[in-house]
Amino acid sequence: MHTLFDRLGLTGLRSGAHDGTTFLDTAGAPLVSLDPSTGSANATLYAATSDSYESVVFAAQLRYREWRLRPAPLRAHLVRRLGELLREHKEPLGELISLEVGKIRSEGLGEVQEMIDVCEFAVGLSRQLHGLTIASERPEHRMLEQWHPIGPVAIVTAFNFPMAVWAWNAALAVVCGNPCVWKPSPRAPLCALAVMRLAEQAMREEDALGVFSMLLGDQQLSLAMADDARFPLISFTGSSAAGRVVAQKVAGRLGRSLLELGGNNAVIVLADADLDLATRAIVFGAVGTAGQRCTSTRRVFVERSVAPELSRRLVAAYRSVRIGDPRAQGTLMGPLVSAHAITRYSSALDSARSLGGELLCGGRVLERAGFFVEPTIVRAPQQASFPIAWEETFAPILYLFEVDSLEEAISANNAVTQGLSSAIFTDSVRAAERFLGPAGSDCGIANVNLGTSGAEIGGAFGGEKDTGGGRESGSDAWKAYMRRQTCTVNGGRSLPLAQGVSFDV
Ligand code: UN1
Repeated sequence: MHTLFDRLGLTGLRSGAHDGTTFLDTAGAPLVSLDPSTGSANATLYAATSDSYESVVFAAQLRYREWRLRPAPLRAHLVRRLGELLREHKEPLGELISLEVGKIRSEGLGEVQEMIDVCEFAVGLSRQLHGLTIASERPEHRMLEQWHPIGPVAIVTAFNFPMAVWAWNAALAVVCGNPCVWKPSPRAPLCALAVMRLAEQAMREEDALGVFSMLLGDQQLSLAMADDARFPLISFTGSSAAGRVVAQKVAGRLGRSLLELGGNNAVIVLADADLDLATRAIVFGAVGTAGQRCTSTRRVFVERSVAPELSRRLVAAYRSVRIGDPRAQGTLMGPLVSAHAITRYSSALDSARSLGGELLCGGRVLERAGFFVEPTIVRAPQQASFPIAWEETFAPILYLFEVDSLEEAISANNAVTQGLSSAIFTDSVRAAERFLGPAGSDCGIANVNLGTSGAEIGGAFGGEKDTGGGRESGSDAWKAYMRRQTCTVNGGRSLPLAQGVSFDV
């Protein structure tokens, strides 16, 4: 562990050093980083005090005055350097993710790759922050739309993507001209600290100190940021319940929020599906990251005729999943993040049983140190009478429902309050098009013949309804981090009014 800390420049920070960018005042409340594989402490860190909050926000505001004037392609130098440093430190960063949140090695490395990818995306984007020119109805007038930085951005992230979700937001926000202040999950402070060490090096080299900063704290800190008008935009990732509180606070001051909240993602398997593909995708979606992704597969709607065969294949695959130390070769499922997560897993299964769900496999909490459970499949009756499946339980529990038609499957997919990710397995072009059409899946992500999780950064990421409506990462998600200005320029010597209005003075 110490060599890992050394490789990431974390040694010496544990006692509460204060290094200019990250504030670990020992005056703040202690915050313990746990290894979920053992339940033992990795380190004790300290939450930001109100003084350090003030100085970080003040520094971000001050930096904004200059940063917004630096041309976007030059701002991108900072993000390019960050991307290089992330690439150089990919191994230890991935290992730290495994240590602090229990992801298996390949998924830890994948998360770091996601950061590198979004940095590269943002560098290219820096030369493509395009506006429109619009035909004016007035002679010798010209209309155009341009995009300006919006101001310091608050970024609140969750434990399950303790690095990448920050990068999605920060790389874009910074290229768009906004310093950003990160509040990571209190369960993953070391991941945040390690990334900030690299960000700090990039900032020093690119004369950009204060562009990236970070404050540790609990939910109170998120709420303080939501209330703080010095952040015109707050990007919040977390549960729908927490997001609703944040969004209302931000709306109360007419600020902007970018929400990426809970998902309750389903896979539809039609009778003509390639069951081999469907099985593998469902297992990755439901068991990967121990079911703790926003995009994790939680529900399956399978056409009745293939239900026995799909169940058989899923159960066989689940039984072969190796559970254990996430750093060990061959492990496919690590621990849940905390003891509380185990309680939620167990109580969801109690509800499922009491509602008539039948356990096809799994269901046990492992008797060993750390927070390990078995991946679980529950055959469930009608979704309408099975309310536990309407909720997002952050655990590897999969509910299997049998349906009689594509229409029934689509309406069941859409019947929950969340709307993040969805998928269909079929060889029928018509069925796939129906699923992707306007009366098909109501989710922000809809996939054909691949699973619900593991999206690429090039697309806009996010979902509808209780998922919050935000879009992060690729496509034109950058627009959320900028303010749009509509400009009309009169190049003539007369003053024609729009809509033919005359007003002669
Ligand atoms: C999340 O769980 O908050 O699509 C993000 C995926 C990842 C991101 C998940 N690329 O599963």
